[in-house]
Amino acid sequence: TNSIINIPVIVHVIYSTSQQNISDAQIQSQINVLNADFSAQNSEIGAGLVPTEFASRVANSEISFSLAQVTRTYSSRTEWGTRDDMKYTSKGGHDVIQPSKYLNIWVCNIGGGILGYAQFPGGNAATDGVVVGPQYFGDTGWVVAPFNKGRTTTHEIGHWLNLRHIWGDGRCNQDDFVSDTPTADRANYGCPKYPTVHCRTNDMTMNYMDYTDDACMYMFSNGQKTRMRALFASGGARQGF
Ligand code: ARG
Ligand code: ZN
Ligand code: CA
Repeated sequence: TNSIINIPVIVHVIYSTSQQNISDAQIQSQINVLNADFSAQNSEIGAGLVPTEFASRVANSEISFSLAQVTRTYSSRTEWGTRDDMKYTSKGGHDVIQPSKYLNIWVCNIGGGILGYAQFPGGNAATDGVVVGPQYFGDTGWVVAPFNKGRTTTHEIGHWLNLRHIWGDGRCNQDDFVSDTPTADRANYGCPKYPTVHCRTNDMTMNYMDYTDDACMYMFSNGQKTRMRALFASGGARQGF
């Protein structure tokens, strides 16, 4: 067992409507979801939904999250896209705060049907963090099914912690650099039945790094845990935490 790595979180709410100015309770619900999901304390694990084949690969990442600060910024802009404008006060958003010590999360309407996006480790410090739409953030308040269980943020933080999509963003032989996640041919959507096979082996459709509905993604693997935690070791891209 490892020591728990705690990640202090700063949430920047950027809103053009009062609905987008989500409540403190909704923000805290997302922190609670993260703490459950990253420690395998989420209800689906307890309910035994992970197929036997994958059960021994379920990881408690021993990574926790705590809410350090919330900023709230009004802007008349209604859609922000994916070019990082929300990360700059000069562009109507809010500047990043100490990204070597805090995970910055911008909550704003991205538009284009995009739920969230993330920056991988090692990128520009000014844009380090994740972006999530307000109606996909947390699991209480203004949340919209089937993305109403806070898993968009779990998925995006997976990227922020160096995880690739489980299908490796390519066809069957494309690697996600994690050995205990089976190769997959493509993303899965909705709530796939088990088993789902696109290559030779069963897809791990219930992994947070697939594209299934929130209710149908509920595990990280041990290999993903190792890949995430490596960032916090001496010399790692997130060693400041
Ligand atoms: N970047 C992905 C998107 O916007 C996030 C998918 C998250 N999936 C989920 N079930 N919440 O499509
Ligand atoms: Zn993704
Ligand atoms: Ca793999």
